[in-house]
Amino acid sequence: MASPVPNWTQDEIATNRAFFYEQTTEFRKTWYPLVPSNELLTTQPTALRLLEEPLVLYRDPQTNQPVVFADKCAHRSAPLSVGRIMDGKLECRYHGWQYDTDGKVSHIPSLLKDRSIPANAKVQTYPAHEADGWVWVWPGTLEDMQDVPKPKLYHPWGGDLKAISGYVDLDIDHSLLLENFLDPSHIPFTHDTTIGNRKLASAMTIDCQFHGKFIRGLQVNPDLPDMITSEFEFHPPCTISLKFVSKTESRNDQSFYCIPTRKGHCRFIYAQRFTFFESAFKIPVLGSVVSWYFPRFNKKVLMEDYAMLTGLQERLAMGANAMNSPVAADLMIKTYRNWWRKAMKKNPWFKGYSDDIEDIVLGDCHHSCASAETKAVPATLSGDE
Ligand code: FES
Repeated sequence: MASPVPNWTQDEIATNRAFFYEQTTEFRKTWYPLVPSNELLTTQPTALRLLEEPLVLYRDPQTNQPVVFADKCAHRSAPLSVGRIMDGKLECRYHGWQYDTDGKVSHIPSLLKDRSIPANAKVQTYPAHEADGWVWVWPGTLEDMQDVPKPKLYHPWGGDLKAISGYVDLDIDHSLLLENFLDPSHIPFTHDTTIGNRKLASAMTIDCQFHGKFIRGLQVNPDLPDMITSEFEFHPPCTISLKFVSKTESRNDQSFYCIPTRKGHCRFIYAQRFTFFESAFKIPVLGSVVSWYFPRFNKKVLMEDYAMLTGLQERLAMGANAMNSPVAADLMIKTYRNWWRKAMKKNPWFKGYSDDIEDIVLGDCHHSCASAETKAVPATLSGDE
């Protein structure tokens, strides 16, 4: 069933809207899921960018805890991510400097015996947390982190259904991918025969509600009142969740994280829960089939979006307008763009970005994602630590 429609006064609506824009437009005041727990190793580091910044991540062999550094050696700025784990420590492959987990250099092989390690021989560290099968990274200040709950995958229906999650790295700017998930009127056409049906396309409006630190969009198809529709939420800066709403009881939901790795690129992370997963995972063979099939199906659906978004991104880079003739079904996109303008005016997290989304894209789309691998992670129960 659909969420109840709030009975707000016009004043309350205006207050909620102002609160949302005031409280959510900071890209660095949030935890980002980045790497599946099963990919973080004690034997070798891995590299990924977040908000344009190169990071190196590994698992401390002594404590098994995730460690995240700026991927830039304190000696001569070589990438630490191409280094190795030696004697339980991250070691730079250039001149062999070794690091403790607090980011301080603990060993310099070429240092003369009567010299001590320079006081500034350290790299920036980032807080990390592991939950629901993912390693999450906090890119902001420690002070801001105190007020924010520890992260876990968001499931709009709540409860403890098993989730299937995974990721794909895409050469699409995270903002364009995110917009795509706020746009239910594309589904019958872009995804005809997979998750959509063009014969079911009909008139559509969106009811947009401001709920504290997130907004909720309710899809309304006046000509098809019995159709399964979606309620979707945007949790800034980069999380979208979908709840499928029908007249029968349903607890299916999905969350999508469009992680801004760097300009024109993103890591797309999904977490899906369907009620039939519960019975499927009780039968090992069936559970294996579901775990094998869903990442492949997700990639097929995603590639349908990819064909649209890469072309759109290229055209925006050539100066095209992102929204020539908006209609009622585009309301969430317009709301997101409004949020973007306020966020970028307030505190751009990368100097190349402006308050126009179409200015942020580059002409460096290489259509490489058709061969990108969809990486699945083991199914988790929400709330698993
Ligand atoms: Fe890393 Fe020299 S650049 S040890």
